[in-house]
This record gives sequence, structure tokens and C-alpha cells, in this order.
Amino acid sequence: MEKETIVSGIQPTGALHVGGYLGAIRNWVELQDEYRGRCYFFTADYHAMNEPETFANCATYRTELGAELLAAGLDPKKITLFHQKDVPEVTELCWMFDTVVPVTFLERMTQFKDKSERAKTVNAGLLNYPVLQAADILIYGGDRVPVGEDQIQHVELTRDIARFWNNRFGQTFAEPKPLLTKTARVMSLNFPERKMSKSIPGSAVFLADSPDEIRAKVRKAVTASSAEDSMPAGVANLFELFAEFGPAEEVEKFQKQYADRSIRYSELKDAVADHLIAYFAPFRARREELLRHPNEIEKVFQQGAKRARAKAQETMQIVRKKIGF
Ligand code: ADP
Ligand code: TRP
Repeated sequence: MEKETIVSGIQPTGALHVGGYLGAIRNWVELQDEYRGRCYFFTADYHAMNEPETFANCATYRTELGAELLAAGLDPKKITLFHQKDVPEVTELCWMFDTVVPVTFLERMTQFKDKSERAKTVNAGLLNYPVLQAADILIYGGDRVPVGEDQIQHVELTRDIARFWNNRFGQTFAEPKPLLTKTARVMSLNFPERKMSKSIPGSAVFLADSPDEIRAKVRKAVTASSAEDSMPAGVANLFELFAEFGPAEEVEKFQKQYADRSIRYSELKDAVADHLIAYFAPFRARREELLRHPNEIEKVFQQGAKRARAKAQETMQIVRKKIGF
């Protein structure tokens, strides 16, 4: 059997944080060896257009995210790394998918419901966001989509869209599946009931944060709980981070202390902060170095775009033929 194709994207809407790293990016880095030559990873700049204020800084975010993805360990020799905007064919496929997907399917997306509740005006782009995502995945023949938990629904919708399309125009697309890590939902430091996100101030540790910033944020992490008998969500979240970045013996020591109630959260926080700081030190250095030569980053992405575009054009030829265009 031919090896599966991996596709995923991330919006250039801000810096990479520990949630996105543990939920998605670290997985991308791990997959690039096993699926060498079969991974398509990109910055989702068309998607980012939905938020005008953030999008005003898109060019800067794109370069920074480019540096961060490379600094995190993605190797353009093994994968196809590019900006979504450099493959405009996805917008054509998105339109075609718009003609087979019922609006009710889009209206029930959790992310659409959350975002449209808060938006003054609900633009069609917000509703069609996952249709473009489906086009992103299917145009490269994606079988597996490494994302965090919040994106599962969009991948399931991609399966629906592939099926609707195949039913109407004949077998064209395979139905992709999400690929999750064991840390697919890292929680906010300050609101541990909500997922860590760059849109909640103080919620996220960014990979590029300075040691002082990391320590300050982790020290402020909420550890209190409303329920008495179970581990508070914020403490569980700290333990999850600890387990990812610290040595097992040390994690166990704190777990024992938690069990016999001798734990001091200030010590737990300092230990978690120490390991986060140490773990991301090489990342911070590589990122800074890469950002000294933004043109080089751009070159890497342009080379990736050539390959991605060739694949996208191949798919679109098939798609157009199916339609009779
Ligand atoms: P944000 O919600 O902060 O804007 P993104 O939308 O840029 O994050 O997410 C990029 C990738 O990281 C997606 O695959 C997403 O599912 C994953 N991700 C984001 N936040 C988390 C989190 N808190 N835990 C696990 N994965 C996450
Ligand atoms: N919607 C994804 C997010 O917010 C980003 C994304 C765009 C994506 N296109 C994609 C993820 C295709 C996986 C596959 O994180």
C-alpha cells in the first residue's frame, strides 16, 4: 500500500505556544521522518483574513511563524513547507466544495458558533472557514491530519465534504482522519477550564517567551479548585506540562507529595518553569538566528510552494475533468 499523506496548517495569527506545540507541531516534527516526502505543512494565511485586526500584522506573523516552525525542528528537505496564499488553487477547490456542503453542516461547527456569537458582523468567511480547510487537506490528497482536539470537528467535516463530492462527481478524494497526540488539549494557565490559546491573555506560554516571562506566567497559574475531591484542573495541567518537559522521577516525586498533601504549589510551579525554560532554550536561540535572515526563511517557503502548487494543480486537473470543465 502507498504510504499515507500528511497535511496540516497553522494560522499566522501570533506566536507559537506550548498548547499548539504539544497538540500539533511536535507531532509534525516527529512525522517528517516516517512520512518523509509525504508531508504538507503550511501557514494558513487565507484563514487568518477572518480577523482583520490580527491580519494587519500577517506579514510579520508569517515570517515569525516561519522561523518558529523551522526552529521547532521542521526540515524542509523532508517536508513541503509553504504559505497557503502561494497556492491559490485551494480557493478554487473551496468554491467547488461550497456547492456540495449544506449550510447546516457549517452552522453546527463549535468554532463557528463560538466566534459568531462574539462577532459584531458574521462574515461568510467565518462560516466557510472549514470548507477552505477541507480544500487544504484534500487538494494534497491528505489521509492524516495532525491537529489539536479543537480541530477534530473540522476534519470530520472534511470527511463529509469528500463524501458529498464523491457521491455527486464520482470517486475523487479519500476521507482523511485526524491524528492526535496524547496532549491534544493543553489548558490555559489562568483559566484552566479553557484551552490554552493565544487569544486569552496570560493563558499561554509562548515558545519564544524569555525565561523571566515563562517563570512569571507559570507562577501565576491558577491551582485552586471548586471541586474538593478531584485534582484541580490547573494542577492537572501543570502535571501534564511537567510530564512532557521534566524527568519522570521528579514528576513522580511531586505526584507523591500531591497524594500525601505535602505538595507546595510554588515549588511545583518553579520546577515546571525551570524545565520549560531549559527545554525551549535551543528553540529560542535558533529562532533568533533565523530571524536575522528573513529572506532565507521566505526562500524556503517559496521552494515549498512550488512543490505544493504542482501537486494542487494536478488535483485540480482531475477535479475539473470530473465536473466536465
Ligand atoms: P490558538 O487557538 O492559540 O489560536 P491555533 O489555532 O494557532 O491556536 O492552533 C494551531 C494548532 O495547534 C492546531 O492544530 C490546534 O488544534 C493546536 N492547538 C492549539 N491550542 C491547543 C491546545 N491548547 N492544546 C492542544 N493543541 C492545541
Ligand atoms: N484551522 C486550523 C487551526 O486553526 C488551521 C488550518 C487551516 C488547518 N487549514 C488546515 C489545519 C488544514 C489542518 C489542515 O488551527
